[in-house]
Amino acid sequence: MRRVALAVLLLALAGCDRLPGRPIRAARERRPTEVTSFDDLYRLHCAGCHGDDGRLGPARPLNDPLYQAVISDDALTRITAAGVPGSLMPGFAISSGGELTDDQVQVVVRGMRERWSTPAAFKGQSLPAYEAKPAATSGTAIGRGRRVFESACSGCHGPDGSGGPEAGSIIDRAFLELMTDQALRSTVIAGRIDLGMPDYRRVDDGGPLSALQIADVVAWIRSHERPSSP
Ligand code: HEC
Ligand code: HEC
Repeated sequence: MRRVALAVLLLALAGCDRLPGRPIRAARERRPTEVTSFDDLYRLHCAGCHGDDGRLGPARPLNDPLYQAVISDDALTRITAAGVPGSLMPGFAISSGGELTDDQVQVVVRGMRERWSTPAAFKGQSLPAYEAKPAATSGTAIGRGRRVFESACSGCHGPDGSGGPEAGSIIDRAFLELMTDQALRSTVIAGRIDLGMPDYRRVDDGGPLSALQIADVVAWIRSHERPSSP
């Protein structure tokens, strides 16, 4: 009997907020600016769109070593802090209307690097530049881009890009309105490792896509948003 009573008492005390010396609940709950672990910050602020563990979300996976090798610390920090204007990617720094202190932004950036970046695997390789210039609008670039598409992409996205056996449309206007040129470029470079789209090194049988081919195929995709384009 005494053992049972003791167990009940211990259970009751364990659930009790008013044990001597134990802070009341309100004081134990951390304010948002006091969360300092990468896992918590990522889960609270990023996983909903970029996926648990950085993959399988609606927005691109962040736990892709090639993607991590291509994007610079500066770009990663800037995007996390200030977001991507004209897209659904919000700015997270307090200075951009978000909830994260500059220190917390740094924790998120360093955490992604520590967990998902493997620079040694890409040592000595020359990778495409991360940053996108605005997509070219000249007919020449768009025409070259169409040929890149036909060679490297149409097998999955269909002969005209409106969807095929393996993957959906990439020329739909509503889709293009949601994706910046940078997001298109990032996809062409790093693929979608979570969804089975190969990166620029393997997407075409003819070998890795060149910098020009990457830019041109983005110009071709973007041209579908403009009514006058070929
Ligand atoms: C509401 C959904 C949403 C949330 C939450 C979100 N993102 Fe994003 N993120 C996006 C979208 C959509 C894009 C693509 C924007 C574009 O079109 O360029 C993006 C783009 C990015 C990019 C650039 C991708 C590229 O193409 O190179 C990075 C880096 C990024 N997000 C990091 C983060 C981090 C870190 C967090 C958490 C602190 C986060 N995101 C939270 C939706 C979100
Ligand atoms: C082996 C098949 C395959 C090939 C080849 C391929 N893709 Fe994809 N792609 C996919 C899949 C799968 C997805 C994700 C699911 C979907 O959009 O249907 C995808 C998604 C995309 C997206 C949307 C990404 C996002 O975050 O929503 C773009 C843009 C894209 N591909 C462009 C291209 C371009 C450009 C090429 C050629 C350079 C290409 N793809 C080649 C399979 C492929």
